[in-house]
Amino acid sequence: MNNWLVLFTVTAAVAWTCHGQKPICPDNCISGSRSSESATEVCSTPPFGLCTVIPCTLPNGNAGHSCSIPPGCVVVPESVVNGLEFFVNYSFPNGDLDTGTRFLDQAVGPGCGSPSDLLAFSGDSFFSGNQFETATAQIGLARQQGLWEDSTTIEMNADWFFTAFNPVTIMAEFRDSSTQTPVEGAIVTFVVDVSNDNNSCTNLLATAEVKIVGSQALLCINQAA
Ligand SMILES: *[C@@H]1O[C@H](CO)[C@@H](O)[C@H](O)[C@H]1NC(C)=O
Ligand SMILES: *[C@@H]1O[C@H](CO)[C@@H](O)[C@H](O)[C@H]1NC(C)=O
Repeated sequence: MNNWLVLFTVTAAVAWTCHGQKPICPDNCISGSRSSESATEVCSTPPFGLCTVIPCTLPNGNAGHSCSIPPGCVVVPESVVNGLEFFVNYSFPNGDLDTGTRFLDQAVGPGCGSPSDLLAFSGDSFFSGNQFETATAQIGLARQQGLWEDSTTIEMNADWFFTAFNPVTIMAEFRDSSTQTPVEGAIVTFVVDVSNDNNSCTNLLATAEVKIVGSQALLCINQAA
């Protein structure tokens, strides 16, 4: 790391601290050589919260680790969560993809469940040209109603009915529910091949998660392993 980078990093850390919030994941090399197991423990224990362990080398050459923001995640102030919704658009050029989006104990999609105030669905789409199915989950509203508190997960499932016409494009984002403005860094596009087993409600393609850590929140969108 060169001096300018060090200066920048220190300045950024000071600027962050001056805003009165400690970072969930400090993302700097922590002293002490640790097995990855104990490093995982350190990175998942407050004040570091829900960080991912990245091995690093200290200036003295010893092994260390940093607690970094997990892949696919962004950090926002907790207050942002109140007005947050999740939106997913599964698009496919041809055929009949059936989708199943799950939030809390509900699912929407052809044959998966009916829409509600908290989970909307655009409707079954097939063989009409430029098909897509979308679902919208009211994350903030659900939290205000006490339906989740510390964390919640949205599952994106889909499967072809009859023949596969791959690939499928999944565009997923966290956004403000009143302006529909996406949260910076929280828009993801996955291009995936989907099976044709009529498993549209449980064939997991991607997940979105919200985790509250003190006065901040992690918003994560990741493709299924
Ligand atoms: C979904 O994605 C398709 C393909 O990009 C696009 O044509 C369509 O307008 C999108 N639908 C919505 C509601 O965003
Ligand atoms: C999916 O459902 C359709 C209609 O019921 C059926 O014809 C087809 O064989 C099923 N496919 C599989 C893989 O089960």
